[in-house]
Amino acid sequence: MSKPSAGAASAAPVYTDAVVRWFAIASVVWGAVGMLVGVIIAAQLAWPEANLGIPWFTYSRLRPLHTNAVIFAFGGSALFATSYHVVQRTCQTPLFMPALARFTFWGWQAVIVLAAVSLPLGYTQSREYAELIWPIDLLIAVVWVAYAVVFFGTIGMRKVRHIYVANWFFGAYILAVALLHIFNNIQIPTSLTHSYSVYAGVQDAMVQWWYGHNAVGFFLTAGFLGMMYYYIPKQAERPVYSYRLSIVHFWALIFTYMWAGPHHLHYTALPDWTQSVGMIFSLVLLAPSWGGMINGIMTLSGAWYKLRDDPILKFLIVSLSFYGMSTFEGPMMSIKTVNALSHYTDWTVGHVHSGALGWVGLITMGSLYYLIPRLYGRKTMYSPKAVELHFWIATIGIVLYIAAMWIAGVMQGLMWRAVNPDGTLVYSFVESVKATYPFYVIRFSGGLLYLSGMLLMAWNVAMTIKGNRPAEARVPMAAAHA
Ligand code: HEM
Ligand code: HEM
Repeated sequence: MSKPSAGAASAAPVYTDAVVRWFAIASVVWGAVGMLVGVIIAAQLAWPEANLGIPWFTYSRLRPLHTNAVIFAFGGSALFATSYHVVQRTCQTPLFMPALARFTFWGWQAVIVLAAVSLPLGYTQSREYAELIWPIDLLIAVVWVAYAVVFFGTIGMRKVRHIYVANWFFGAYILAVALLHIFNNIQIPTSLTHSYSVYAGVQDAMVQWWYGHNAVGFFLTAGFLGMMYYYIPKQAERPVYSYRLSIVHFWALIFTYMWAGPHHLHYTALPDWTQSVGMIFSLVLLAPSWGGMINGIMTLSGAWYKLRDDPILKFLIVSLSFYGMSTFEGPMMSIKTVNALSHYTDWTVGHVHSGALGWVGLITMGSLYYLIPRLYGRKTMYSPKAVELHFWIATIGIVLYIAAMWIAGVMQGLMWRAVNPDGTLVYSFVESVKATYPFYVIRFSGGLLYLSGMLLMAWNVAMTIKGNRPAEARVPMAAAHA
């Protein structure tokens, strides 16, 4: 399976695809679970009784479960699947150390299950996106090192001289996540489930947001750009618009991201100049982000007509428009005076989900729709119509979600800062909560639509794997038997 078949008539390598299949399926399953938890916490914000009075079902415990499930289980499994798939095709060689690749699968699933148990039980480091307790962190580090060995080992064994740009992005994401994970989780354990950070005060906050922002930059962006640079040209049957731009895009993006973390700590005890450095680098970040987006979208030039009836391309290209939107909005929100309004409001949550649902979600779904039929030797997905329907349900869901959060966020910011001529507040906090209620209900419906799309995808994937043909294809076969 994993070795090129000896004496085969063709020199084409036999790829190590079993592990790619497992990760692809895991991504679909965890996507549905993580989004279900997202819908539950969206419901709890609108109707607090939905926590049912059970401690492990409360918002505070389910929220980190949601973020960990969608980012690391859904997004992470998709990144493993696609990076393993792409690196083999572009290096013309099977995976290096396939047994280690299988270990990364089981190790990563173990991390996910441990997270799903420990977070609802209330075990946490209380660092956003790095909540998992230290023993799980150690397991993550081991799995990640194994991942790096498999990925870079495969690059080392490549049969072509050139290293295709998608691998640069995947490689940067693997290296940067290792660096971030290790330095943000240096802890002194006090028991099996508790530890203290070695950093103190504002330095601790800075290290945490250096991690948090680069988790966005490398986990939620660089890896998915790797997907973009492989699956868009493949699905569009066009070469990348500008290979030169892709290299400039790569270096500019990875250099700039590292410095932008302080925009999460505006108006805090962090020195003012550090906040300004974060703001300036965030503004600069607009250029490489849009360079990448333009490169991806323009890959379709001369083939725009394909967008009309190819739902997979719709997923891939529309994801880029959400990427462009969130990477325009992010730099704006990093301007200190804008952040004075947006921080602590639902505007941030709107920004997060235009990136998460629009960019990360749609590019993952598009890439998996490309990948899954090929991994199982099918020509297309079981139901291409369901793919089209999924695209529309998801897009309408995103628009409802993010529009509701933008309106709610700006409204909250304005209500909190409104003062009477005598200096007293015009609105009490609870009045702003009451005014937000309808928007929480709209967000809940948007989330429900997005989740329904994911469930439709899970059904379509299961049917594709089962190998049943869609109804149209079944007719002539039935006729032949008659
Ligand atoms: C040029 C690119 C981007 C810049 C400069 C940027 C900037 C920002 C800013 C200023 C905040 C608000 C910080 C605060 O007030 O607390 C923020 C929050 C956030 N952004 Fe972005 N953003 C960018 C792209 C993205 C993308 C593409 C995603 C998702 C895929 C994303 C995910 C997030 C997340 C998860 C948070 C919330 C962090 C938290 O407080 O938990 N960002 N971003
Ligand atoms: C059905 C889809 C989804 C729903 C209904 C949903 C809902 C929610 C809710 C209610 C919150 C808490 C907001 C708050 O604290 O006020 C949240 C937070 C978050 N979600 Fe989702 N979500 C969904 C999908 C996703 C996906 C696919 C991703 C990432 C790929 C994601 C990433 C995040 C992140 C990073 C946060 C923390 C935001 C922050 O700290 O500002 N979500 N989500």
